[in-house]
Amino acid sequence: MLGSGSLSTKWTTYLGLLSVLSTAFSPVFAVKEHDWKKCDQSGFCRRNRAYADHALSAISWESPYKIAPETGSFKDGQYQAIILKTINDHGETVRLPLTVSFLESGTARVTIDEEKRQKGEIELRHDSKARKERYNEAEQWVIVGGMTLDKGAKVDYEDKTQMTVKYGPSSKFEATIKFAPFSIDFKRDGASHIKFNDQGLLNIEHWRPKIDPPPEPEKKEGEQQPDKKEEAPREDDSTWWEESFGGNTDSKPRGPESVGLDISFVGYEHVFGIPSHASPLSLKQTRGGEGNYNEPYRMYNADVFEYILDSPMTLYGSIPFMQAHRKDSSVGIFWLNAAETWVDITKGKDSKNPLALGVKSKITTRTHWFSESGLLDVFVFLGPTPKDIISKYAELTGTTAMPQEFSLGYHQCRWNYVSDEDVKDVDRKMDKFNMPYDVIWLDIEYTDEKKYFTWDKHSFKDPIGMGKQLEAHGRKLVTIIDPHIKNTNNYPVVDELKSKDLAVKTKDGSIFEGWCWPGSSHWIDAFNPAAREWWKGLFKYDKFKGTMENTFIWNDMNEPSVFNGPEVTMPKDNLHHGNWEHRDVHNLNGMTFQNATYHALLSRKPGEHRRPFVLTRAFFAGSQRLGAMWTGDNTADWGYLKASIPMVLSQGIAGFPFAGADVGGFFGNPDKDLLTRWYQTGIFYPFFRAHAHIDARRREPYLTGEPYNTIIAAALRLRYSLLPSWYTAFRHAHLDGTPIIKPMFYTHPSEEAGLPIDDQFFIGNTGLLAKPVTDKDRTSVDIWIPDSEVYYDYFTYDIISAAKSKTATLDAPLEKIPLLMRGGHVFARRDIPRRSSALMKWDPYTLVVVLGNDRKAEGDLYVDDGDSFDYEKGQYIHRRFIFDANTLTSADYEGRDDASIKEGEWLKKMRTVNVEKIIVVGAPAAWKGKKTVTVESEGKTWAAAIEYNPAEKSRAAFAVVKKVGVRVGADFKIVFG
Ligand code: GLC
Repeated sequence: MLGSGSLSTKWTTYLGLLSVLSTAFSPVFAVKEHDWKKCDQSGFCRRNRAYADHALSAISWESPYKIAPETGSFKDGQYQAIILKTINDHGETVRLPLTVSFLESGTARVTIDEEKRQKGEIELRHDSKARKERYNEAEQWVIVGGMTLDKGAKVDYEDKTQMTVKYGPSSKFEATIKFAPFSIDFKRDGASHIKFNDQGLLNIEHWRPKIDPPPEPEKKEGEQQPDKKEEAPREDDSTWWEESFGGNTDSKPRGPESVGLDISFVGYEHVFGIPSHASPLSLKQTRGGEGNYNEPYRMYNADVFEYILDSPMTLYGSIPFMQAHRKDSSVGIFWLNAAETWVDITKGKDSKNPLALGVKSKITTRTHWFSESGLLDVFVFLGPTPKDIISKYAELTGTTAMPQEFSLGYHQCRWNYVSDEDVKDVDRKMDKFNMPYDVIWLDIEYTDEKKYFTWDKHSFKDPIGMGKQLEAHGRKLVTIIDPHIKNTNNYPVVDELKSKDLAVKTKDGSIFEGWCWPGSSHWIDAFNPAAREWWKGLFKYDKFKGTMENTFIWNDMNEPSVFNGPEVTMPKDNLHHGNWEHRDVHNLNGMTFQNATYHALLSRKPGEHRRPFVLTRAFFAGSQRLGAMWTGDNTADWGYLKASIPMVLSQGIAGFPFAGADVGGFFGNPDKDLLTRWYQTGIFYPFFRAHAHIDARRREPYLTGEPYNTIIAAALRLRYSLLPSWYTAFRHAHLDGTPIIKPMFYTHPSEEAGLPIDDQFFIGNTGLLAKPVTDKDRTSVDIWIPDSEVYYDYFTYDIISAAKSKTATLDAPLEKIPLLMRGGHVFARRDIPRRSSALMKWDPYTLVVVLGNDRKAEGDLYVDDGDSFDYEKGQYIHRRFIFDANTLTSADYEGRDDASIKEGEWLKKMRTVNVEKIIVVGAPAAWKGKKTVTVESEGKTWAAAIEYNPAEKSRAAFAVVKKVGVRVGADFKIVFG
């Protein structure tokens, strides 16, 4: 952490701005935790926790929600009914329409709305122009598939009190809906896994008119006041109608409207997900107790620069998706709500249902979710594997976009490269020091006074010249474009934003003005289709002059960050397109902006059909379809390096795996050891970018001096040589949502000891197991071995001797990256060192065959042009490699027939690229003395020389075939034995 004496430039700017404002809010000096709400400072959080406290401590508590059975109907996989909420002792009720949808995929969805708001039969206060309904458009942004109803879902049992629906593949899932009080029990194979409202915490704050208390009668002198009757305890309504924090007041024209529900994971001790938080992968309890948090996990996208570690406080983006896991079973839920959301987690014995568990784990995790507004809308996934959970979630929200291939390379960023000459100089130096990289980045200072789509003409005299130098080495430029548009004269962008009425509005319907980097600014409302259309125009090459085909975009500050707004964001009563309040859509805001930019990049030039690359800071469920994210403003400190691993893993298991942290740490100055270790970790982030604050000293990797330069260059080379395997992992993420780096619970769901481990991971399907060093002065690491396979050191081929579920200690002096190869895998590399990934495009491949205990191995390689959408038309190579019975074969991964694919130019050329080298690690002793192997491909047979290296001390035997000469796109068979 930076000391309080070293205020970041952001805050220097902010305070500077404040001093010129004569408004009522008071500047906050310490930019720490207390600048963001704690639960008891957020009205609905406090109310829902109080509701829970009351329900859980009352001697007799009955949830006041009941289905009126006569309103129920089941048709075509969907159950609809009215839930009646009893709101007072007179038995008065409000009507809450319930829909339970059973989807073909086996996913169930439970949606609860409120009839009065739905019908617009409510009154808004303060003459508000806001919509009256509960926000019901989140699904339009988030859901892209998987919504077909399961016509095979059947009511299996029904009486006056409950009904049971069987659904899902082979009807192995069932949902028992109890009518009074309303609850749902989701079962798989007859056993309960997920329960809704089991604890009675369901809470839909219905609309009510504000009734002002009658004025206190004036007390006349000498007059005795009659004794007041004892009143029943009232609900705490102090935050129903207005709420203030940090000098900002939220007018809340719709009154209280939160939705809350308890969701129990029966027999599950671990829950994962709900990124982004700087906290362990296996989520902690939040209701106090030793080692637990006292605050719920919060999801309210915020510019929390200098965020603190080991905390449930909100960060920049939110994915309200959670999976629970125990030995051999995973289930999950997705809470589709984009308003401010909190989640409490407790774990304990299932005292209510001790016999109902029927599973070994006696622990049940109880979660309590609540959002400030909107529908109650929850999807339920019943597994049973982690892969099932994530793929069903991905079916709904989409998968990682196939990336621009360059974006898997190394990104060199800082705030700021100060001129085009500076950029060109860094570009040359990276070459001079043999450090490959693909992208150099420009932060906000490249603009003319923070006016996006312009250049500072004094320092960036010739952006096209700069772009061309980069292009010559296959490199790209990323420039930042933020959503705040400077409110100034002679700036056509802001003029158009205003004249076309495309900006976010205040509660009164006037244009919203706030403060960000440029000073006074307005915000594009990317919820508005017209705004998105306009945004597209701004990126055309002839409009955003100075950009060219190798320019891509970084979207920052899109939570949105508003320096003088409540919690550094927009007032909740601001209005977006369609008059939805900002409160309803806050967590979607960042995604809509990234979406606008994504589509703008798709339409820069007629006929240009290339994959966009857009980095975003704020995100929501579905953002994975649009680009990459990073974990925001971390600090050059070992703790942040360590925390980055669970944070990036958590992104992966929540469907948005294209993630990374600022290498080196954003704030502060890393010492050389820390910087080196950060590079050695960063090479395993799916998104690998170094970045630094404007006040941080220059730290391009070549400035580190020896021996660090050589060590960092080696780490970069390792990333580059493995790019084919990284790209293949992205392909799998694109196909079915599989994470790119995988935690132990995901790859080894049966190993209990591995479930909480979050500092080591596998890369794709390669069998490569990494455990980066994240502690100062550490020269060894203990790595947990998840199974009985043989493991080898990646660099030395030493056999790692540790039994299953034991740890092996790996030597890790500064120059060593702890990386193992698991037996049983084949992975691809490109071994010729080059300056950038583009220059490796036609390089030959090396296949590394790592034999398992059974002398078998399997793996795959996916290749496409890395740039266009032609892969959608079959223009790709995807091979499956199998090593069995001493023979390595390559066949089309999907069993496609080559002849059936019409070859485009790229495919034609790629098919001529060779697999040149094969390394077999753990080669059998019987190969000793072998001089050749037999290669068969494309109707020919030939012999290729093999070199056998016998085992030596702890090093395994290995064999190398140096000139295989098969084409990567062709079927082949290589007989070793
Ligand atoms: C924000 C970003 C940071 C960027 C800075 C200036 O703090 O998180 O990465 O450098 O703004 O644009």
